[in-house]
Amino acid sequence: MDDRFFSGPTLAIETSCDETSAAIVCRRNILSNVVSSQTELHLQWGGIVPEAAARAHVEAVLPVIQEALTGAQIGLSEVKAVAVTNRPGLVGALSVGVTAAKSLALALDVPLIGVHHLEGHLLSVVANADVPLPHVCLLVSGGHTELVHVRDLGAYEMLGQTLDDAAGEAFDKSARLLGLPYPGGRAMQELAMGGNSKRYPLPRGLHGDVMDFSFSGLKTAVRRLVESEGDSLNHRDAAASIQEAIVSVLAERAVRSAQHIGAEALTLAGGVAANAALRERLANLCEREGITLYMAPMELCTDNAAMIGLAGNLRLCRKEHDQFDLDVLPNAPLP
Ligand code: KG4
Ligand code: ZN
Repeated sequence: MDDRFFSGPTLAIETSCDETSAAIVCRRNILSNVVSSQTELHLQWGGIVPEAAARAHVEAVLPVIQEALTGAQIGLSEVKAVAVTNRPGLVGALSVGVTAAKSLALALDVPLIGVHHLEGHLLSVVANADVPLPHVCLLVSGGHTELVHVRDLGAYEMLGQTLDDAAGEAFDKSARLLGLPYPGGRAMQELAMGGNSKRYPLPRGLHGDVMDFSFSGLKTAVRRLVESEGDSLNHRDAAASIQEAIVSVLAERAVRSAQHIGAEALTLAGGVAANAALRERLANLCEREGITLYMAPMELCTDNAAMIGLAGNLRLCRKEHDQFDLDVLPNAPLP
């Protein structure tokens, strides 16, 4: 599989949301992957403020690139290509990374490649595994919840997606209702530990033989639960019940979609892929159903530039590259 990736060294940059990240990637080898998170900054507002995110990227982007080069023990002049997330994401945030990438590619006289953020998440799984093709990827992040049929690396087809909130959003919004800090996914997982997941029955969204998801009903139900229970709400049991409502529907539908297209393998990627309950549930279900499960390594689940370097190297190996008028797109379908 390695011959399908550009040899590099490729400098990769990711600034689509609230993480400033830079990495050096040769083929599928990640030489360095530096992530500077803005979580502390956005904590005060309980969510991401796009203007503040863009300004924080301006401050962090060059020091983070410098650190990635130092970590990989290479000089800037050794960089053979620059890969950058240009879609989808917050326009101001994306612009910072794309401007830095263009400037460096111009100065170094190397190819520039714009990468789709979700292709990065998808490929985070192949960093250290040869995943059989075709397979299905359950891609679950703060902005996306998708079941993707990966026919080949670079050839994707959407099997199902959320009709409203993303899974990460469902975690974050429910966490906020429980008084947990932003982003709520990890805090919810910690609070749920040892809690009784059957204590509070919560809706599972769409019923029947569907591949899509809906999490907006869950958020409403959690709001009602918090209001009706008041001080008697057991937060640990509530967190466990919410986590169970999200995890069960994700795992069950992912396995069903793999069976639907006759895929023998399933992959799990995106920020919510860091959730221990989801990883365990999918592992159990896949074992029972004879499907091989490949999960993104923990450090590549949440946003990072290494996955952008992997996707960039795949594209560059196919002789794809972009011009210096490369645009930033807030919304874009998976290539
Ligand atoms: O992929 P990501 O870093 O950013 C986007 O592209 O959206 O995903 C961030 C999302 C947030 O909603 C966060 O709460 C969620 O991933 N997340 C988790 C966990 N760690 C991060 N959700 C559940 N359990 C976790 N352990
Ligand atoms: Zn992401």
